[in-house]
Amino acid sequence: MENITDYLCKYKDYVFAIGVTTAEYIDSLQNFEIRDSDVFVVTYPKSGTVWTQQIVTLICESDFEDSGLYPNNLERMPWLEYREGRPDYSLRASPRLFASHLTPVLMPPGLRDRRAKVIYVMRNPKDNVVSYYHFCLAWAALETPKSFDEFLQHFLSGQVGAASWFDHVRAWYSRREQYNILFLTYEDMIMDLHTAVRKICHFLERDLDEAAINRIVEKATFKNMKTDPKANYEFLPEDMLNREKSTFLRKGTIGDWKNTFTVAQSEMFDCVYQERMGDLPLKFIWEMNGQPL
Ligand code: A3P
Repeated sequence: MENITDYLCKYKDYVFAIGVTTAEYIDSLQNFEIRDSDVFVVTYPKSGTVWTQQIVTLICESDFEDSGLYPNNLERMPWLEYREGRPDYSLRASPRLFASHLTPVLMPPGLRDRRAKVIYVMRNPKDNVVSYYHFCLAWAALETPKSFDEFLQHFLSGQVGAASWFDHVRAWYSRREQYNILFLTYEDMIMDLHTAVRKICHFLERDLDEAAINRIVEKATFKNMKTDPKANYEFLPEDMLNREKSTFLRKGTIGDWKNTFTVAQSEMFDCVYQERMGDLPLKFIWEMNGQPL
């Protein structure tokens, strides 16, 4: 791994926070044995990972023979790429759930057998970068941005953890035929959480009745997750995440970017977005009901 700043290192065109993993471990994922029943939630950071983690964990809850073994969603659905301190995943009971921010080339090749399931959640990149900016203000392992403008430049050039948003979304979307993959957007989930949960159930082949779906929706609302100690990541130590600066559940809305971007930054971003993503048929919702927030 090559250090590119005091906080970030690069490996195979991907960017990690220094110290979270090793090249050997990432390479070992090429031999990671995938089970047909595995479920992966894959995202670019700050796209709604923790939210989807909660939904998928609740949907699969009745399948777990080892219920109660894991104190929170992070333990139940660990990050694939952060090996440190984790048990041997080959010893885990099925179904195994994993979260990941990796790009397809770094993922276990067995996923391309199209049996294990991948849920890819993406978010409009203006809200994504604002959420990421606030996260960096609070997350000790990442450099504290001097200003939003500086962070925006780093985001656009891919000099942030998980590298470029544009490359990440493109890489997963353009290889979608190779995977058993469900694409969802954060905005779909905000606009109609019930439909999103139902879609995820259907994809995971879990036939839950309406009452069970309603219970999951209730437990996955922003308000309820914020006070759910299994889901809200408040269990992380204070020296890792400074809660006075930000939290995993911060605003939970669409269009917060308008409170941060200047008009000039927004226009510049639109040009870059058009240049880099204009050929893809992706449609994001950029603001609530078209109304300024
Ligand atoms: P904001 O910072 O815009 O509030 P990730 O889990 O990938 O780190 O993403 C974090 C973002 O998802 C944060 O966005 C957080 O508030 C939002 N989020 C998490 N749970 C949510 C929920 N139940 N409803 C809406 N947004 C949620």
